[in-house]
Amino acid sequence: MQGFALSGLASILSHIGAVLSRKPRSTRRQMCRNADYLVAAAPYHAGEARARSDRLAGRRLSPKDARGTDKVFAGSIPELYDTYLVPLIFASYAADLAARAASRQPEKVLEIAAGTGVVTRALASALPDSAVIVATDLNQPMLDRAQAIGTSRPVAWHQADAMQLPFEDGEFDLVVCQFGAMFFPDKPGAFAEARRVLAPGGAFLFNVWDRIEDNAFAHVVTNALATLFPAAPPAFLARTPHGYHERQAIAQHLRLGGFHSEPGFETVTSRSRAASARIPAIAYCQGTPLRNEIEAAGANALARATDICAVAIAEKFGAGPVDGKIQAHVVWVTA
Ligand SMILES: C[S@@+](CC[C@H](N)C(=O)[O-])C[C@H]1O[C@@H](n2cnc3c(N)ncnc32)[C@H](O)[C@@H]1O
Repeated sequence: MQGFALSGLASILSHIGAVLSRKPRSTRRQMCRNADYLVAAAPYHAGEARARSDRLAGRRLSPKDARGTDKVFAGSIPELYDTYLVPLIFASYAADLAARAASRQPEKVLEIAAGTGVVTRALASALPDSAVIVATDLNQPMLDRAQAIGTSRPVAWHQADAMQLPFEDGEFDLVVCQFGAMFFPDKPGAFAEARRVLAPGGAFLFNVWDRIEDNAFAHVVTNALATLFPAAPPAFLARTPHGYHERQAIAQHLRLGGFHSEPGFETVTSRSRAASARIPAIAYCQGTPLRNEIEAAGANALARATDICAVAIAEKFGAGPVDGKIQAHVVWVTA
């Protein structure tokens, strides 16, 4: 495109040169000013043309930069996440995890990657009042949202990276984490931190999404976005939330993190339901870090992406209420 712009400019300049000699002096001065403008503006127009072609080709964040935004839950994401995504896919697993936590009768529980607090609220209801609950997350905007919603009884909230927990060794008898482990860049390191803050005999209880093919709306959204941005499909959902489901890898990372007992695994299948296809489209495109990747594709990309995903979901699941499969692995291991 740049080569085309420069060869176009050369032919314009040669045309100006050919006609200049036949024109009066004032016209020649004006034409020279035009030529100066064309030379000065060439890089700008080349850049514009390149930007236009980038938008059409769907060129976007480099894979490294895209990966870097996977952990960013900020701006309008926390509110949209909590409004649309939590009821869609997180609430049923939160109830499941809280029931498993309560059956262990813990006295002091640490939650990591608590997000907007769906598990925290479930724990607050499921555990006896005597149990202490401490909830943490990397992204303060997620915790702000959680605190604004509130809990049925007091919870201690702290901003904290799961790979550097600001707590003493052996402080807790249960560490809980819902759909956070996939986001930790150093999984054995994060598991070692969970192990460190657990008292001997304490338990680490967490869940991870299964592969994207077993999570219907996420799969349709990812395929639809690949048709809209063929040059660089936004792959957040497959790469991160659905990118950590191999039991062997999880068991090995737990061992590397210092958990030497055998972990337990259970695959839990549930349903994801919404009043219309547009709700999961908004939830995934706008209420997760997938949004960061889509927005990098330029103006209107988010609106177009949301529209095309709503159409794709409606085509597969119907124009009215939609109902799709979701599947996750629940994991527990003793310190
Ligand atoms: C999919 S959300 C799950 C949130 C919540 N547990 C739920 O069930 O709704 C993933 C969460 O992981 C958090 N997170 C990402 N990287 C983290 C890290 N290194 N340490 C702690 N939390 C992290 C994000 O801020 C986000 O809130």
